[in-house]
Amino acid sequence: MGARGTNERSGRDDWLLDSLARQAAAMAQLVKGARASAAGDHTETARHWLAAERQANRFLRGFRRRPARRCAQEVEAHVAHLEAVRTQAQAVLTGLDRAAVSDAARTAGVRVAVMGKGGAGKSTISATLARLLARQGHRVLAADLDTNPGLAYSLGFPPAAGMLPAEAVEPHPGAPYGWRLRSDIVPAEAVERWAMPAPDEVRFLSVGKIEGPEKQAPKRSVAAMRELLLGFGDPGWDVVGDLEAGPTTPFEGYHDFADRVLVVVGPAWVSAMTARRLLPLVGDAPTTIVTNRFRDEPDHPGLPGVVRVPFDPEVLEAERQGLAPLDACPTSPAIGAVSRLADLLSGQAVAA
Ligand SMILES: Nc1ncnc2c1ncn2[C@@H]1O[C@H](COP(=O)(O)OP(=O)(O)OP(=O)(O)O)[C@@H](O)[C@H]1O
Ligand SMILES: [Mg+2]
Repeated sequence: MGARGTNERSGRDDWLLDSLARQAAAMAQLVKGARASAAGDHTETARHWLAAERQANRFLRGFRRRPARRCAQEVEAHVAHLEAVRTQAQAVLTGLDRAAVSDAARTAGVRVAVMGKGGAGKSTISATLARLLARQGHRVLAADLDTNPGLAYSLGFPPAAGMLPAEAVEPHPGAPYGWRLRSDIVPAEAVERWAMPAPDEVRFLSVGKIEGPEKQAPKRSVAAMRELLLGFGDPGWDVVGDLEAGPTTPFEGYHDFADRVLVVVGPAWVSAMTARRLLPLVGDAPTTIVTNRFRDEPDHPGLPGVVRVPFDPEVLEAERQGLAPLDACPTSPAIGAVSRLADLLSGQAVAA
């Protein structure tokens, strides 16, 4: 085990093995649901197997990023199991009616992590996107993973903590910062119980802000939030995660819960430089470049905006007034562009 003797397990090893067991239990649930649906209609079966395939991919992402430095045998067996589930899911999906699989993919949920340089517009776009997806009838969880949080403001509700309460977490010596999601709580239950209601029936969770040198709030919640998001495989939900600016969070894999990463790029050269630094850290998750705050500048070389959100003075004014852009200027060009992004992600439009 790890760098210690073969019989000596560190707290970190325990935490890792626990995490593997939780992941295996979550996968077993999804596979059970998928097998039970086998007699049903093709769309329902496809929905279940797509959920299993996507969840296996989310779990695999972290292991692919870096080779295991501890519990290598257990990790290897776990990875092999995840890959086997994924292969099985793909085989079943290939044998199903294609139209049914497309239908299922459209309703399987949109899970995105939003990255970019500080001030690029991550929170504005995340919040507006979350609310627009909710208006399309999706159940949406908006997660603020930034310890300098801004997502609640952009969503348009009073400054709210939205943090997991003390009863949702438990200490564990091997967990990052010493806290993790309580072991008897599954992610879907945590969302039902503790995600706060936000406008348009979006549900909201936050890691909390750093308030002092001890940064207690995020220390207690950050590992739990990551576990929660990563293990939240319920196919009936969309998840929009607003990541802290810069490369640390992607490096640590905060985006592993997402099936797609949105990289928000502003017109400034440094914004493009940050995007170019982030992209290699994303790993194998598909990426979409969203340009924001451009006037008539061309795209940065190599960073074509799949969706272009224009500079919009009404959005800036909304923020100055402490209002959500979607409430203050719902028909503005920037909101129109985020609406196209929502359509694109939810399969209601195809890329231009
Ligand atoms: N399309 C736009 N047009 C004009 N102003 C915009 C636009 N998008 C965002 N803004 C403004 O830019 C500022 C930064 O936006 P936002 O807070 O969303 O960025 P962020 O990437 O989340 O920043 P941080 O890294 O600090 O969390 C805000 O004042 C916001 O109102
Ligand atoms: Mg922000």
